[in-house]
Amino acid sequence: MIIAIDGTAASGKGTLAKRVAERYGLAHLDTGLLYRAVGCLGGRSDVSLSDEDALADLAEDLDLDGFDEEELRSDGAGANASIVAAHPKVRAALMDYQRRFARQPGGAVLDGRDIGTVICPDADVKLWVDAAVEERARRRHAELSARGESSSYEIVLKQMRARDARDAARADAPMVKAADAHLIDTTSMTIEAAVERACEIIDRTVAR
Ligand code: CDP
Repeated sequence: MIIAIDGTAASGKGTLAKRVAERYGLAHLDTGLLYRAVGCLGGRSDVSLSDEDALADLAEDLDLDGFDEEELRSDGAGANASIVAAHPKVRAALMDYQRRFARQPGGAVLDGRDIGTVICPDADVKLWVDAAVEERARRRHAELSARGESSSYEIVLKQMRARDARDAARADAPMVKAADAHLIDTTSMTIEAAVERACEIIDRTVAR
């Protein structure tokens, strides 16, 4: 079984994907980490974030092992990820890895922006996770504060809107809900409630 979980930044899709994978005993890939890692590698080797060919070469040989999770999860890495993710050659270089992961025996859960539309258009179940942008900014701001990364709520909200716009406007694999994806709006849901809702949808879809 392949489960595709896409959605906006800080919508809760990552935590949801992890919990769903645990519940069904499936492998899980957070595909945002791949784009984050390419952005970090670019920074380390002084490659400009607009140098598509050089970034695609880095993506081609990507190995997530050498990365510090904290570095990858930082806000700056997220913003850089969204810039490198707009390059078609970078997306193409990361495609095989994601498809191979999805097709492993037993199946997998992948979360990202284009899993249900581009990477696994034939996924057994597709979920689209979203929440109001103000609520997503509130969550991201709380997360950053807890990590000691200081930023005001207003700045986080502005950055969140900019990231949404960039992800939705890019020509290649824009962030968009697949027509056959089930919407989960987590604005006023706890993570537990969102997991229960996701499992109901998965069980119902697979039983058909
Ligand atoms: O956790 P958060 O939603 O903030 O970010 P993420 O899922 O780690 O993704 C970071 C950035 O990578 C996004 O803003 C997208 O531009 C890009 N991305 C993508 O283009 N396609 C994916 N499948 C996953 C992430």
